Amino acid sequence: MKYRKCGESGVFLPEISLGMWHNFGDRDDAAVARDMILAAWDNGICHFDLANNYGPSPGSAEETFGRVLKSDLASHRDEMFVSSKAGHEMWPGVYGDGSSRKNLIASCNASLRRTGLEYFDVFYSHRYDGVTPVEETMQALIDIVRSGKALYAGISKYPPREQQIACDILREARVPCLVGQYRASIFDTDAIRGNFPVAAANGSGIVCFSPLAQGLLTDKYLNGIPAHSRAANPDGYLKRSDVTPGKVEAARRLGEIAARRGESLASMSIAWLLADKRVTSVIIGASSVNQLLSNLKSLESPAFTPDELKEIDAIAAQIR
Ligand SMILES: NC(=O)c1ccc[n+]([C@@H]2O[C@H](COP(=O)([O-])OP(=O)(O)OC[C@H]3O[C@@H](n4cnc5c(N)ncnc54)[C@H](OP(=O)(O)O)[C@@H]3O)[C@@H](O)[C@H]2O)c1
Repeated sequence: MKYRKCGESGVFLPEISLGMWHNFGDRDDAAVARDMILAAWDNGICHFDLANNYGPSPGSAEETFGRVLKSDLASHRDEMFVSSKAGHEMWPGVYGDGSSRKNLIASCNASLRRTGLEYFDVFYSHRYDGVTPVEETMQALIDIVRSGKALYAGISKYPPREQQIACDILREARVPCLVGQYRASIFDTDAIRGNFPVAAANGSGIVCFSPLAQGLLTDKYLNGIPAHSRAANPDGYLKRSDVTPGKVEAARRLGEIAARRGESLASMSIAWLLADKRVTSVIIGASSVNQLLSNLKSLESPAFTPDELKEIDAIAAQIR
């Protein structure tokens, strides 16, 4: 594993991190979830990404991680970097959603209980909710850090304007924004254009999520929607309607470039993000140990030639 410095902080993160949005809930196979966490750990992935609502059911991914931590990795707490977040719907009700101080503080406490951790390494505001003043959300993050419940503060999916306001407030309080988490992939470059420059200018690290567009940037959907896939899973966030002929055709053509480079489309897609030196880490999801191990091959990808980058952009431009 290679590690990159997270913005202007003293923290290093692995180039590839493991996220638990899908496949770690109480409806998933607990043995597979444990095997994936341990395979990640054995391969130098020391950064695990959680959120209060990850499951389903909401909260159960944190419980799964907490169980594996206790049974297998308890003595390694100081060697790992664990994040959680609050801001999306966790439970129905007026205090179960959003970016208010009320929700963030209560949610952080509940996430600590579920994981059994004494503190998170970074606690994120999961989203700008369009209602809560950024000042209120940032003050909650500052207080979470000052009370020792998290070591660092982070933000996720903030529009560039609110991202800048958040960074200013956090810097002024001397709890700088360690990291911003943004959706980015060959298929989805909005954050690369809008958020990356703001993060870089403010000394924040950048963590990319959904680097494979939830599986679309693999060979998985080239011949239809397999029964065991996120798009076929009623709990999955990838909908059948997201698997469009245009995206499948783009994946097929991108796969040909990957094959010429001697790698899989998944591996090339992760490497494509890591080629941007502003990126600190790419958070992958996986539904099996095999996927996880094969995606780690992106760490050995050859450098992209200017012609390859142009070809990739031209194909992706048709579906962006
Ligand atoms: N901050 C935020 O708002 C936010 C939002 C979303 C995600 N995240 C974080 O980012 C993490 C990653 O997101 P993601 O799960 O969408 O990432 P992703 O890497 O784009 O998608 C992962 C899915 O792609 C499929 N896949 C992975 N490797 C494959 C391979 N080699 N061959 C074929 N299929 C493969 C699997 O789906 P199948 O089930 O079909 O096998 C896997 O579950 C999340 O767990 C979470 O921690 C954060």
